[in-house]
Amino acid sequence: MAVSSSDKTKSIRSVLIAGAGVMGLGIAKSFAAGGFETWLLSRRAATLGDLPRGVRATADLPKNAPDLVIESIPEELELKRELYRRLEAAYPATTLIATNTSGLDLVKLFAGMKHPERFLGAHYFQPAEVFPMVEVIAGPKTGSGALDRVAAAMAKTGKQSIVMRTPVIGFLFNRIQHAILHEAYHLVSSGACTVEDVDNVARLALGPRMCITGLLQQKDISGLTVHATAQRGIVPALAHDNTPNPDVQAMVARGEIGLPAGKGFYDWVGCDARAVREQVTGRLNALIDFLNQQQKSDRPGTRPKPRDIRRTKK
Ligand SMILES: NC(=O)c1ccc[n+]([C@@H]2O[C@H](COP(=O)([O-])OP(=O)(O)OC[C@H]3O[C@@H](n4cnc5c(N)ncnc54)[C@H](O)[C@@H]3O)[C@@H](O)[C@H]2O)c1
Repeated sequence: MAVSSSDKTKSIRSVLIAGAGVMGLGIAKSFAAGGFETWLLSRRAATLGDLPRGVRATADLPKNAPDLVIESIPEELELKRELYRRLEAAYPATTLIATNTSGLDLVKLFAGMKHPERFLGAHYFQPAEVFPMVEVIAGPKTGSGALDRVAAAMAKTGKQSIVMRTPVIGFLFNRIQHAILHEAYHLVSSGACTVEDVDNVARLALGPRMCITGLLQQKDISGLTVHATAQRGIVPALAHDNTPNPDVQAMVARGEIGLPAGKGFYDWVGCDARAVREQVTGRLNALIDFLNQQQKSDRPGTRPKPRDIRRTKK
């Protein structure tokens, strides 16, 4: 089917979320709350209990083509590609198809698709209905305008988009998160500190600082001279082994997958998993509200302008 220029710019009104798991349900909730026609594709559609208000579940692809599909099924390359082939067969090229993958390579995921220009990444953070931010990432051939249309739809769900115009594995959030985690695992594995030490430093030092000044602005405020000196001493000593931490891999292989199994970095036996999740979500909501309020009350003369610091610009 030919795609007219108005199809390429029209705003997104209907959304199909594929996969009714941890992420899919939260994503569907955020679109329904934003006033979108929202479908949830699930093989368990008939038995899904409490659906978020305004979300309709279906076991088959809806007949009417949605404007946007967000795929949020398990992190398996072939499973996702199989679904994309079904979507391509069912829907015209005007339907945008976004993946919520955390770590798969968009180049491999979208290779061989009939209309690669309609494929992109839309990466949410857990819980998807809570975080006011999402990453929108171009695939290797994403058409101009598709990123902006998806970002505009995200804005209507109350989410700011970090738009990345080139595909990088892990995008922004997970690259930073995994760099930090890799070092933390290394320190725990080598006996330099405990799991609790890592979490205490994250909760009481790194986290509060990042909440107020991000990662980089804080370095400006402290002054870069000391930082550059520390960089020269510390960076060569970091874990640079290119290998997922073997202790963490072994834990998962033994079934010690965290809260759902009662055992992970912590022993959760006797804890109420639902209460734990509700407590975390409630505190996150309160913290995000607080931070939004803080931003609105910035004192005059406290907002710097971002700079491009690359030594060689393309
Ligand atoms: N869990 C997280 O913290 C998180 C955060 C960001 C992104 N992600 C990404 O989101 C995706 C989903 O993760 P999740 O944690 O929600 O997984 P999950 O296992 O909780 O949910 C996946 C759901 O998809 C269903 N499913 C499988 N094949 C399907 C198909 N062909 N059609 C429809 N439904 C199908 C499964 O039955 C399951 O209900 C993954 O790519 C993951 O990497 C996860």
